[in-house]
Amino acid sequence: MSVWMMLLLGMSWAAESMSCPKECTCQYLAVNCTGKQLEEFPATVPLDTRQLILAQNKLSYLPSIELNFLSDLIYLDCSGNSLGEDLDFAFVSIVKLVYLDLSFNNLTLVTFGTFSQLSSLVVLKLSDNPGLVEIEKDSFANNTWLRHLDVSRCSLTFIDTTTMKDLPNLRSLGLSGNPWFCNCSFMELCSWMKDSGVTILDTDNVTCYSPAFVHGLRMLAEAQEQLHYKCYIHFDHQDYLFLGLVGFCIFSAGIVLAWLLGVCAVIYAFLTGKGNEDEEAN
Ligand SMILES: *[C@@H]1O[C@H](CO)[C@@H](O)[C@H](O)[C@H]1NC(C)=O
Ligand SMILES: *[C@@H]1O[C@H](CO)[C@@H](O)[C@H](O)[C@H]1NC(C)=O
Ligand SMILES: *[C@@H]1O[C@H](CO)[C@@H](O)[C@H](O)[C@H]1NC(C)=O
Ligand SMILES: *[C@@H]1O[C@H](CO)[C@@H](O)[C@H](O)[C@H]1NC(C)=O
Ligand SMILES: *[C@@H]1O[C@H](CO)[C@@H](O)[C@H](O)[C@H]1NC(C)=O
Repeated sequence: MSVWMMLLLGMSWAAESMSCPKECTCQYLAVNCTGKQLEEFPATVPLDTRQLILAQNKLSYLPSIELNFLSDLIYLDCSGNSLGEDLDFAFVSIVKLVYLDLSFNNLTLVTFGTFSQLSSLVVLKLSDNPGLVEIEKDSFANNTWLRHLDVSRCSLTFIDTTTMKDLPNLRSLGLSGNPWFCNCSFMELCSWMKDSGVTILDTDNVTCYSPAFVHGLRMLAEAQEQLHYKCYIHFDHQDYLFLGLVGFCIFSAGIVLAWLLGVCAVIYAFLTGKGNEDEEAN
């Protein structure tokens, strides 16, 4: 009896796990749940789903276990929800994921842990997250295949240059509409962008917010010119050390020269004095 019960339960679970969630449309391993007012992750997404679209819903978190059963997933669109919770363990076993859209959400922080397991990722959209204030250094160190990254219209002030240098395959980068803090480290990022050949989307809207003297200037145009003199024509520690060393050498050479002159003067005085004495003696 209990065996039959278990079998029945197992069968119904299996059937449920392969059926289309009632709010969504499913075809060819693709599940589309766009705009269905979902507040929860749909319960019965078929386990072999490759493409899952959850756009324009009311999801505030992604349940790690349910999501990670979908180990064949390659395309996940969660745009237009209110995801804001720490996503650090959300994407641990959907390692085949190539496309991830988290734009128009409520993200606040990206760390190395957020996407570190997604080593096949090619497209990552994080734009229009008005609360996103920080992308930690090396956040994309494990996403070496990334080609398209968009962080437009967030609240970012700074991205470390090494975070971008970790991405050898990057082709396009969206940075516009953020309140960038254009200090010299940030200008290093600009130089890297110019040299690397990465396409910067909507460049006219990539502007500096601070410091005040570059406020509102376009980062890859006027701001870069303004900051060039400040950042590249200046003395750093090494230069001061070098100047100090040169100064010390000149100073020491002067002392040695003075000493030699002194010695010569004394010898001359001694010799001429002796000469005079000799003359007087004669
Ligand atoms: C998903 O469904 C929405 C409307 O229900 C439709 O506009 C959209 O084109 C669909 N997306 C795909 C990839 O089929
Ligand atoms: C976004 O997050 C903030 C705080 O983290 C919260 O106050 C706000 O209600 C959230 N917005 C949405 C749409 O969930
Ligand atoms: C980086 O990606 C590899 C797979 O390419 C994975 O095995 C490894 O655990 C990831 N590193 C971290 C720290 O998550
Ligand atoms: C520029 O600002 C960032 C973030 O505040 C900081 O980490 C970095 O050290 C600054 N660089 C310089 C050269 O001041
Ligand atoms: C720059 O941003 C403004 C306002 O967000 C927008 O209207 C404009 O179209 C953008 N410029 C470009 C070149 O996209």
